[in-house]
Amino acid sequence: RPVLSQPGVAGTVQAGGDGAAASAPQFTRDNGAPIGENRHSKAVGDMGPVLLEDAHLIEKLARFDRERVPERVVHARGTGAQGVFRATADISDITKASLFAPGKETPVFVRFSTVIHGAGSPETMRDPHGFATKFYTDQGNWDLVGNNLPIFFIRDAIQFPDMIHSLKPSPVTNKQDPNRLFDFFSKTPEATNMITQVWTNLGTPASYRTMDGNGVHAFKLVNAQGKTIFAKFRWISRQGVKNLNGEQVAKANFNFLTDDLYGQISAGNHPSWDLMVQTMSADQFASLNYNPFDDTKEWLGVPFKKIGEMTLNKVPDNFFEWTEQSAFAPSNMVPGIEPSPDRMLQGRLFSYADTQRYRVGANVMTLPVNRPRVAVVNNNQDGQLNATQRSSDVNYFPADTAPKTTAAEFRNSTYEVSGIVDSKPIEKTNNFEQAGIFYRSLKPQDKADLVKNLAGDLGQVTSMRVKTMMLSYFYQADKDYGTRVAKAVNVPLSEVVKAANEYRAAYPEQFGAN
Ligand code: HEM
Repeated sequence: RPVLSQPGVAGTVQAGGDGAAASAPQFTRDNGAPIGENRHSKAVGDMGPVLLEDAHLIEKLARFDRERVPERVVHARGTGAQGVFRATADISDITKASLFAPGKETPVFVRFSTVIHGAGSPETMRDPHGFATKFYTDQGNWDLVGNNLPIFFIRDAIQFPDMIHSLKPSPVTNKQDPNRLFDFFSKTPEATNMITQVWTNLGTPASYRTMDGNGVHAFKLVNAQGKTIFAKFRWISRQGVKNLNGEQVAKANFNFLTDDLYGQISAGNHPSWDLMVQTMSADQFASLNYNPFDDTKEWLGVPFKKIGEMTLNKVPDNFFEWTEQSAFAPSNMVPGIEPSPDRMLQGRLFSYADTQRYRVGANVMTLPVNRPRVAVVNNNQDGQLNATQRSSDVNYFPADTAPKTTAAEFRNSTYEVSGIVDSKPIEKTNNFEQAGIFYRSLKPQDKADLVKNLAGDLGQVTSMRVKTMMLSYFYQADKDYGTRVAKAVNVPLSEVVKAANEYRAAYPEQFGAN
């Protein structure tokens, strides 16, 4: 029968118990108080219930219950690594960004990821792959939040939630369904370039080390004299670009990309990338047959200049603290780097910091992985889990007491805009030309793999309209491309050509210069 007082019951662990040396660190509760027992709950007698007064047990279970934060709404499955960026060229003529002083070294944290599937998904599923870099510069953090591919599916942020819904598992079956995603893309011809690239083996990289990275959008660079120019950034892998074909994917294990990256870094084989930049000035835009701020387009033919090198040399000590809590945001820019009017980038400037205040919390930027390596001086304060340890009572601006200052040299560039406010597509949509150029640049085996990969997914689509529309886009990119995929999914070419002609006649504004 349970009794309230029963000192010295058998089974109590003795001092220095559990075989640990006496010098091992003493176990404590979160309040720092040492504890004498960590394997047996405080219970009444041999058969009696467990007591609510066992604060250690309650705390242990409560903390366990709260271990997960929401996973990222996209790019949930990721792998992080630390390293260093070294600037190699004087580009003070185009940007005053301090990290580009030749020879200067800046610590970085990089997170690679897949996009669509959850945190517990296999790493080799077909996807664009994320390549996000946080530069801890001496003028604050710059996040270059890119992908392995140089372009994107859509050109306006207002479409992003719909596109992701179509690509994510069905809300009914919780399974990804080619019927849903191709339904969306059959009405999104601007995605043809990206779809073509994702369904080559570039959608299944052999390693995170063998991926290039792309900032995708145009950014605005500003030099010390206030002169501006537009730029795109690209990481070129020094390991070369290598991918897996369908048969290799089938044999790859669940953690294929992490095993490779962490295995190589731990073995001292540190992967590295060259950072390249392309630039264009506003007076070059009129001659283009596409909009330079349309992220479904590459700046083809614009030369690349090497401006730095990055090496990844450390596996972070803790996955959650570094990789999971890392918060990359395209809005994290530094003096000398500013947004362009790219409509996707403009939406991203809002979305990332917003989701992170929800996913991690209002003080997300104060965590070790995210906090700048320079002092943060402002009046943003409080909120959940605030550990900033401020001591001043001057939390307002301007102030006569303990004033803080803003220097004119850090003002953003000024620019003129004019136009009719409206919600309408861009001109010069030119939806298919670059997809065709990309297709024709592929080696015969890569073309064959693309046709096979696409047919595997498009072949599952039951709607003849959706299938035919998709094929008509591939056909308009390149006749050989469309013809081969049509054959692989058994759709008569005459139907594809008819659909292409009808669609162009019905929606001429979507086709612009093409
Ligand atoms: C992650 C939104 C387009 C690359 C995310 C996250 C959101 C998001 C909400 C999760 C962030 C987090 O929880 O920390 C959007 C929206 C887009 C867009 C609204 C379009 C308007 C793009 C584009 C790229 C991209 C065009 C590539 C250039 C990434 C990467 C991550 C990410 C690499 C993962 C960052 C990490 O490793 O933590 N995106 N995204 N996204 N996005 Fe986007």
